Amino acid sequence: MGERVIFVIFGASGDLTKRKLVPAIFSLTCEGFLPPEDIAIVGFARTDLDNDSFRRELFKGVENYSRISTAQCRLWPNISERIVYHRGDYGDIKAYEELKNLLNSIEEKLDIPGGRYIFYLATPPDLYSTVIEHLGSSGLTRKMGSFPRIVIEKPFGYNLKSAIELNNILHKYFREEQIYRIDHYLGKDTVQDLLVFRFGNAIFEPVWNRNYVDNIQMTVAESEGIGTRAGYYEKAGVLKDMFQNHLLQLLTLVTMEPPIDFSEKSIRDEKVKILRAIRSIEPSQSYNYTVRGQYAGYREERGVSPHSNTATFGVLKLYIDNWRWQGVPFYLRSGKRMKEKMTYIAVRFKDVPHIMFPYKFRDQISSNILYLWIQPNEGIRLQFNVKRPGMEMNISPVIMDFTYSDVFEYKVLPDAYERLILDIINGDPTLFTRNDEIELAWRFIDPIVEGWEGKESPPLAFYEGGSLGPKESDDFILRDGRNWL
Ligand code: BG6
Repeated sequence: MGERVIFVIFGASGDLTKRKLVPAIFSLTCEGFLPPEDIAIVGFARTDLDNDSFRRELFKGVENYSRISTAQCRLWPNISERIVYHRGDYGDIKAYEELKNLLNSIEEKLDIPGGRYIFYLATPPDLYSTVIEHLGSSGLTRKMGSFPRIVIEKPFGYNLKSAIELNNILHKYFREEQIYRIDHYLGKDTVQDLLVFRFGNAIFEPVWNRNYVDNIQMTVAESEGIGTRAGYYEKAGVLKDMFQNHLLQLLTLVTMEPPIDFSEKSIRDEKVKILRAIRSIEPSQSYNYTVRGQYAGYREERGVSPHSNTATFGVLKLYIDNWRWQGVPFYLRSGKRMKEKMTYIAVRFKDVPHIMFPYKFRDQISSNILYLWIQPNEGIRLQFNVKRPGMEMNISPVIMDFTYSDVFEYKVLPDAYERLILDIINGDPTLFTRNDEIELAWRFIDPIVEGWEGKESPPLAFYEGGSLGPKESDDFILRDGRNWL
């Protein structure tokens, strides 16, 4: 006891609750990280549901999406009985007063100390400020220790201006340490492993810089299209959907200086330094630094304008102006409806300074490449050259391969939301984005968005579904004398 919380989800009838949040809570409970009696869940939404129908919907979600099956773990009834649905309009103060009474009665009934609320905003983003203001005016934000905590799903604003406005509204009622801005990529085990890989090993850090690294590439490819999310995606496009958050977050972890300790402040301070050091790309430069693409058939998707210029694919070349990375190009790319789902980081090291083998072997020597494979087939792979066995001298590149599932008991790695929800409950904000990170990321992305909307934009390049993106993406990197790894 004492650790107990009430998890209040706004937008509870939506997909996120069913697919991610509640299945994650279920898995945490089953693995003993979160005893069922330590949590009560309140779903707040406009949809007309009652407790039973809400619980039934959530159970379907758990059955379909949870890492741990309901056959393996029989704790659903224990969780379910602590789930309550509260129907209300987000703009109606009465709904929040009723919520307050409901929370008080749950505290009393389930013996949960007062005010230990986690407000999870899973509504459409244009409702965030309404919900926050109403939480504030109904007195639900009264501080009790480090509670209440508020969790904000992405997108956090649509640009720098709206992100600052949202931060200001949040800071009216919450201190920064009470605010958890989700970037679910940070909850992935393989993303956290970037820190262990870099700072828990002695051999990589000495070569992790401009003296040894030729370029770094980051790919987040998805095979799915936009599905039913046209309303959101048409406005966001790939830059706001994937680059402003996930890709820039990956970049900070790959490039930051070693933090002095493992505290949230030290880590997030180092990330911020990188975000400040990224060289800005002016709107007029977008042609030289970016590629934008759209998959064939996107304009026929439901809810998409037949003339849409929204990019579903993007490439971004950037530089980090600091001592470690000066002059090293970073190529970031992401797209929907690509060949397969894969997220990986490839670090290509510089060529050997001198080839001492006879001339004919030159072409047999490949670069050393380190692949940090984020998903799927999570692992770390290193390419280096060996002598091919035999009487003759021949050189071949080979790959040394570490795959998580070969070594560890997890066949499926925990879902990012499991880790993030546990951290929110435990009050650890390390894996969440701080206000300055968000604002700096927008400061970098905004001019590129402006460039893409203006006359000097690179043309929209079309690509076939199931491909690796448009030809322009290959041409782009080829112009630098490189290719995608
Ligand atoms: C979300 C984006 O943040 O991340 C989606 O809005 C995208 O468009 C998703 O599909 C990808 O996440 P993951 O974990 O499947 O790589």
